[in-house]
Amino acid sequence: MSRSLFEKFSPLRGALQGLVGNGASPFGVPVDRVLSPTEAIIGGRPTILAGTFNYLGLTFDPACIEAAKNALDRDGTGTTGSRIANGNYGVHGQIEQALARFLGRRSVMLFTTGYQANLGILSTAVGPEDFVLLDADCHASIYDGLKMGNATVIRFRHNDAEDLDRRLQRLSGEKGDKLIVIEGIYSMLGDRAPLKEMVEVKRRHGAYLLIDEAHSLGVLGARGRGLAEAENCERDVDFVVGTFSKSLGAIGGYCASDDPDFDVLRIASRPYMYTASLPPSVVASCLAALQQVETRPELMRNLWQNARQFHGALSELGFTLCAEPSPIVSVRLADPATAYVFWRELLEEGVFVTLAVPPATPNGWCILRSSVCAAHTEQQITRMAETYRSVAARLGFNKARTSMSRAVGA
Ligand SMILES: Cc1ncc(COP(=O)(O)O)c(C=O)c1O
Repeated sequence: MSRSLFEKFSPLRGALQGLVGNGASPFGVPVDRVLSPTEAIIGGRPTILAGTFNYLGLTFDPACIEAAKNALDRDGTGTTGSRIANGNYGVHGQIEQALARFLGRRSVMLFTTGYQANLGILSTAVGPEDFVLLDADCHASIYDGLKMGNATVIRFRHNDAEDLDRRLQRLSGEKGDKLIVIEGIYSMLGDRAPLKEMVEVKRRHGAYLLIDEAHSLGVLGARGRGLAEAENCERDVDFVVGTFSKSLGAIGGYCASDDPDFDVLRIASRPYMYTASLPPSVVASCLAALQQVETRPELMRNLWQNARQFHGALSELGFTLCAEPSPIVSVRLADPATAYVFWRELLEEGVFVTLAVPPATPNGWCILRSSVCAAHTEQQITRMAETYRSVAARLGFNKARTSMSRAVGA
């Protein structure tokens, strides 16, 4: 029998097979057709999209689509190279300036994805003498960026400012710089960083602070600038990372900073230099989306109304929720098999959420992750909650809160 390079993945393949058997895979659901920000045809059935992170529902926004079409006609389909090789298209600079103005920052650097923004900053801005203090629940892109670099990485317990403080205290004799990395809203559980406490620790130790606002741009703060705005801490945050793939409805990433030397990363950061820049059509659509964030506060209001309605309904039904109300509503279930069956039944009843199981989840939890959207109607939110209820009843979950808690061993 011939050997394969991929034999080492047999345990992984086995784990997936053990989870799904002959059932549908939760990782790569075939979507026949997307109809709107909240609806698709999946497996021939009309389905509510209830886990897309399309927070403001801008994927079908007419102004975004028109801007993208115009840029396609004007600038073509792609840049076919990086900005250091093929140059800056007008829209690249325009969106950097628009974001810098929106975020109240001196400079913004555009990356091709949010993943690459984290790689670009974290692999480069900190060096071998430096220390990165990392919240344990941070996104894979943050871990991967740090693996590409050579700073010393120290994890602290999720959202635990005292643990962070202790760990920084131990480094007090070290001359290298210290960078704290946290997120605004954490993507798995939907909880927020205790930013004010983190800022106090940062000040006490003279550290730098980077916050990844991927899930909080257009979601938190009076103007939608994120958690730092909501907590009135923007001046204490040194670097803001974000993505265009959630509230702006397209793809792309950025990092913002007030450091006058920040632009040097354009000739030092490999994930910026060695990959193609964003197609102008995508950037044009993001520019139009940013304008929607700035001029249509009702989008954020709808989003939060839907978040509270859905969180409240699931909580009322006795589900074990992972965080306070937020646009990410994660339900914790007892084990991978229960979570998978629940996920599959929801999909069969026309509600598409995300299944997340260990090792991708914090604390080894099994999670059904939904995210609401400004464009969900009240009826869709009611239908989503009702479907959770009917699947739970069919799977023999007890209606009472205590029984639901027992189901997750809490
Ligand atoms: C916290 C966080 N940072 C970065 C990213 C990567 O964003 P992108 O999809 O733009 O690569 C994600 C994506 O889910 C995320 O949750």
